[in-house]
Amino acid sequence: MTDRARVIVVTGGSRGIGRAVALRFAQEKPRIILLHYDPDESAADETSALLHEQGIEAETHKVDVSSHKDVNGIFHDIISRFEKVDVLVNNAGITRDTLLMKMAESDWDLVLNVNLKSVFNCTQAVIRTMIKQRSGAIVNIASITGQIGNPGQANYAASKAGIMGFTKTVAREVAPRGVTINCVAPGFIDTEMTAILPEKIREALKGQIPMGKMGRPEDVAEAVCWLCSDGASYITGQTIHVNGGMYM
Ligand SMILES: NC(=O)c1ccc[n+]([C@@H]2O[C@H](COP(=O)([O-])OP(=O)(O)OC[C@H]3O[C@@H](n4cnc5c(N)ncnc54)[C@H](O)[C@@H]3O)[C@@H](O)[C@H]2O)c1
Repeated sequence: MTDRARVIVVTGGSRGIGRAVALRFAQEKPRIILLHYDPDESAADETSALLHEQGIEAETHKVDVSSHKDVNGIFHDIISRFEKVDVLVNNAGITRDTLLMKMAESDWDLVLNVNLKSVFNCTQAVIRTMIKQRSGAIVNIASITGQIGNPGQANYAASKAGIMGFTKTVAREVAPRGVTINCVAPGFIDTEMTAILPEKIREALKGQIPMGKMGRPEDVAEAVCWLCSDGASYITGQTIHVNGGMYM
């Protein structure tokens, strides 16, 4: 690892899309810091082992990204040790699906806090450093649901649409300082988040995808890593849709 190795922070990095993002970035031998909030360390350890096989000693930390205080604490620690953050991928997210009529206030608050407030927390925690560096790339994982809606996901859709509005605004604020911020909006991707859906719903969703199949976490990771590459340095405030044609 050289001093020029990029410092990359991925939230929700223990499994699913976050893991695929970390593994895709591993090709460039960066310093990788993964945040997660799983009840145990098993998935995070598995991701660390996969990164180790690629010659990367990743750090994993259990941090609730919806907590402004805890996020500031971990980023203070990261920035004081590495003196920079080159890439932030705001990927942590949860669902608490139910029809609006039945939705508990606590499920609204939890989803908005974990999916949207976390993006505010983590982005604010790195932005001063990126502005000082005059470089940096932030990618926020939104969702097709934030664009087209989905019955049972009023809280989730609001959080993901909120991420897109946040992204465009911050993009305008930091564009003159050489920092980019974009979204990737996945469609229906094969991870633990979608594995819990009943088979009938999974089949119905697949029927709405012109490509006729679910996406893989790696499909999302490609778009994320590209948005953080030199080749995408003139792109900011955008959303790339990775959805097999489900929304165009
Ligand atoms: N899987 C899909 O079809 C799909 C589609 C569109 C968008 N997305 C989005 O992609 C992102 C990743 O989803 P996934 O399918 O890989 O999910 P997943 O359930 O497999 O992984 C979620 C990750 O988020 C972390 N996390 C959850 N709550 C957290 C908290 N409070 N603090 C810190 N970390 C927390 C978990 O520890 C885990 O690492 C999410 O934002 C999700 O909304 C997924």
